[in-house]
Order: sequence, then C-alpha cells, then structure tokens
Amino acid sequence: MGRTLIYGLPAPGLIGIPAGAEQVSPLVPGSTDLDDLPVAKVDAALILAPPGTLERDYVIAQALRAVKVGGELNIFAPKDKGGSRLHKTLASFGCEVFEEARRHHRFCRVERPKVLERLDAALRAGAPRRLDDTGLWTQPGVFSWDRLDRGTELLLKTLPDLKGRGADLGAGIGLLSLKVLTCAEVTELTLVELDRRAVRAAEHNLNDPRVRLIWGDVRGLDAQLTGLDFVVMNPPFHDGGQEDRTLGQAFIRAAAGRLRKGGVCWLTANRHLPYETVLQETFRQVDLRAEDGGYKIYEARI
Ligand SMILES: C[S@@+](CC[C@H](N)C(=O)[O-])C[C@H]1O[C@@H](n2cnc3c(N)ncnc32)[C@H](O)[C@@H]1O
Repeated sequence: MGRTLIYGLPAPGLIGIPAGAEQVSPLVPGSTDLDDLPVAKVDAALILAPPGTLERDYVIAQALRAVKVGGELNIFAPKDKGGSRLHKTLASFGCEVFEEARRHHRFCRVERPKVLERLDAALRAGAPRRLDDTGLWTQPGVFSWDRLDRGTELLLKTLPDLKGRGADLGAGIGLLSLKVLTCAEVTELTLVELDRRAVRAAEHNLNDPRVRLIWGDVRGLDAQLTGLDFVVMNPPFHDGGQEDRTLGQAFIRAAAGRLRKGGVCWLTANRHLPYETVLQETFRQVDLRAEDGGYKIYEARI
C-alpha cells in the first residue's frame, strides 16, 4: 500500500482509512509533522480539511508537496465548514478535481499533478509567524491566532498574583502563562496543550526556565503533575470542530485532580456554558470574581 497519510479524525464510516495510515494532524499528540516530510515521496493522503481558509490551504499545500506525482489525495470536509470551497481551492493549485457529496460532506479526489501552482504563497500564508503588534509567535489555525479572546482578556485582567507550582491547561500560545510568569513567587509552570502548533508558538513566547511544555491531552495527564498550588485555564468547548460542553467539564475535573488541598483554580467561562454545577460538585469553594462581555471568571478552591 505504501506510505499513506491521514490528517484528522474522520467520523467512523465516513471514509475508509487504510491500515497503517500515518496521522499528521497537529491536534493528535505524537503525530508526524507534515512539514518534516520529504518532497514528493508519500504515496497517498486523506485529509479531513480544517475549517479556516489559511489553515486549510496550508495543509492542502503541505500534503500536495509531500505526495509523489500521480499519487492520490482524498480531501474532504463538512459542506458548511469549508467543504464547498475544496473544489475551487484544489483547482487553484493546478489539480483536476473529482468531487462527490455524501453525508453532508464534500469529497474531492485528485492526483498530484507534476506542476503545482501557488504552492509557495499558500505555504507562506499559513506558516508560523511573529505578529508585529504583540511580538508573539502564532499560526493560523491555533485558538484565536491573531486576536486576543475576550474570555482570555477578562481572566488576564482579573488574575491576582500567584505563587508556587502551577499549570496552564489548554495553554494555547501561552497568553495566560505570560501573565502568570510575571509573578516572582511562581516557581514552576506546566503548560498542557493539544495543538502542536500552539505548543511550538508557546515555546518561542515563553523563554523562562520555570516553564515545562506538554503536547498532550488534559484528560490523560501524567501522574507527575499533582499537588499543584494553582491552575489557570480558559477551557475549550470544541472538540474536532463540534461544540462539546463535556470537554470544559473534563478540564474542571482534571484541574481539581491536579491541585493540592487548598489549591486554587482560576478559570474563564463563556456565560452560556454549564460549568457551575460541575464546579460546585468538584471544588470546596467557588466564587464568581468577574463578569463582562458574556464571560465569567471563577476562583475555585479545593
Ligand atoms: C479556549 S482556548 C484557550 C487558549 C489559551 N489558554 C488562551 O486563553 O488564549 C482552549 C485551548 O485548549 C486546547 N485544547 C483543546 N482540547 C484540549 C485537550 N483535550 N487537552 C489539551 N488542550 C486542549 C485548544 O487547542 C486551545 O488552545
């Protein structure tokens, strides 16, 4: 069968995935980085294309670059999350496209042409970069990649000085961590983040010996990260593009499980999300510390 790449985690039964296909999504810890693949050596690729335009074009360009001339690429996405644009995008790279619609998705099959058009432009537009206004590293596709999220902003404004050992769960490019590290009495800070691109950006953004970065899932943390004095977080509420309220609740339980008795969790929550019950069930004391623009900041003590 040769070397086949798979990008993303398609719903069961959506598409046949050959045994041994190699995961290349940055959202799957341990996966191969498309950027590390040799040019035109891979036999085939299946790409569940991400929703953002720059990110999608970047991934498609990376995959086209990696697959050998004549190799097959199957690129698909929900119709309303970029699927309806796939045909045009692939044609713009110089591909002949065969498209079909099924289960609310668009599926496009192409053979990797000998000559690829506008490849470099797409690779440049989706690459990691340092933003001029903030001086921070980021990349299209990571959470709120080019603007400060309002939930993050409110937590940044509300956070008191912290001390001791702590963690930033779902740390993104490290915005909350940057603030935490301004506290001289913070001795150690572990960032946990599912998105490899964000972890790499955070690595550039936080040049501090107190920092440890984990590319991993908060729901399966190693046993070493316990007895913490504090956790900060802006929990995600999307999993694989779908709203998933249980993800934020799992973050709250994970935070509680990592804290020492008396330890504190500071978190930001979108007002419409049902976090209060799980906070009350999991923590000894829960206080609402700020509320603005649809967001709430809680201080929860275990
Ligand atoms: C709402 S964003 C907050 C990012 C950052 N803390 C900030 O405030 O800018 C949530 C982050 O959690 C990450 N994430 C999602 N699911 C995760 C999981 N299961 N484990 C670890 N991180 C996860 C996302 O990639 C995203 O960067």
